[in-house]
Amino acid sequence: MKIGLCADHAGFEYKERLKKYLKSKGHETVDYGTGSAESVDYSDFAHLLAEGVETAAVDCGIAFCGTGNGMAMTLNKHARIRAGLAWNPEIGRLVKAHNNANVLVMPARFISYRMVCRIVGEWLGASFEGGRHLRRIEKMVCTL
Ligand code: RB5
Repeated sequence: MKIGLCADHAGFEYKERLKKYLKSKGHETVDYGTGSAESVDYSDFAHLLAEGVETAAVDCGIAFCGTGNGMAMTLNKHARIRAGLAWNPEIGRLVKAHNNANVLVMPARFISYRMVCRIVGEWLGASFEGGRHLRRIEKMVCTL
């Protein structure tokens, strides 16, 4: 798969390590930044990754910030993005199986790198179940 990656300073190290790991597993990666551990604004990089996913420049995305929330909130402002936060392997599986997340977000300051790899493995290996979950996703659009 072609996987877009992004992180702020809090997630920079995990992004770099994961980039190498994904390449070793045969995936192609596109790095949307940040490029160092210097303090930055997560939103700048979330928008770049979202654009990459929305234009199909990449198949899906993985994002890190300290809690994961800033990245997820920003990514989910984009109409065609479903960014899901996961902090253990089962949630990694469910965020694809039930929510069909096209971006996986992880809280770099609260999980180990080993956990990151396990979550990513579950997410990439899972399939969207459709059915009632498709109906629920279709109702995510705010009509109020
Ligand atoms: C950066 O200090 C931190 O605020 C950021 O990584 C993230 O946790 C925000 O949601």
